[in-house]
Amino acid sequence: MYSSSIFDPHFDNFSPQEPQRAPIGVFDSGVGGLTVLRQIYQQLPNESIIYVGDTARLPYGIRSQTEILQFVREILRWMQQQGVKMAIMACNTSSALSLDIVRQEFNFPILGVILPGAKAAVQEGQRIGVIATPATAQSNAYRQAILEIQPNVQVWQVSCPEFVPLIEQNRIHDPYTTEIAKTYLEPLLKQKIDTLVYGCTHYPHLSPVLRSLLPSQVKLIDPAVHVVAACSQELDILGIKNTHPPMPTRFAVSGCPQQFTQSGLQWLGYTPMVEQVCFADAVVS
Ligand code: DGL
Repeated sequence: MYSSSIFDPHFDNFSPQEPQRAPIGVFDSGVGGLTVLRQIYQQLPNESIIYVGDTARLPYGIRSQTEILQFVREILRWMQQQGVKMAIMACNTSSALSLDIVRQEFNFPILGVILPGAKAAVQEGQRIGVIATPATAQSNAYRQAILEIQPNVQVWQVSCPEFVPLIEQNRIHDPYTTEIAKTYLEPLLKQKIDTLVYGCTHYPHLSPVLRSLLPSQVKLIDPAVHVVAACSQELDILGIKNTHPPMPTRFAVSGCPQQFTQSGLQWLGYTPMVEQVCFADAVVS
């Protein structure tokens, strides 16, 4: 099942002499990272992207740190084989549970979403709510990151276990989703938050529902916007921003490619070519 290139010979075209042309690897458990990909298309239109969705093993948010570390290492090894110049963990759960560890293990820069999200949140508010997967909420990663930057704010984190399955099943407009969203937001509204962080990259897909339930003065922070801005800065610092036209985005998923093609069409507005990959098979020589 694993293949370096089923129908993407174009990705073999960059040479080590031109590192700026190499792709950026972006990964998530599923469609959440597409919120980051959309930002890349807006902010970094010349970059070539390899998007990984580990759809056979989602949701990540109910997994242990040991499992997340294993999955993340497998994906990053596979990306290394594809010759990425940088990777973005477009997944808060992976960023919370594995970023500090795997950063030491790979020879390309790896960016996570939590620090950029935390920095943006403290710019906006003082009573900050974070909605996240159970694993991210339990890790306390957002509270720690926010308080380290600005100790004088207050942070409340809420675990939202039902959101990712509902989003992956495309049940955004199902009345049940609104009901469950009300339940998750209730403790944050009681605390009169002024800012809400999407602590999971899937959640911006729910923005119409969440916006309808929040007072208009509550600011929404999407870490996707800020991790891509950080990526842009990092590319400039390293002198590897691509100035040539990008290659078409390559999509690799561990689950059903057809299902991902559908979601891609919905969230990106075009029909992506999706290949199936078994990341566990990736071995670096
Ligand atoms: N979108 C990911 C995150 O930001 C993973 C969600 C999941 O698979 O539970 O946490």
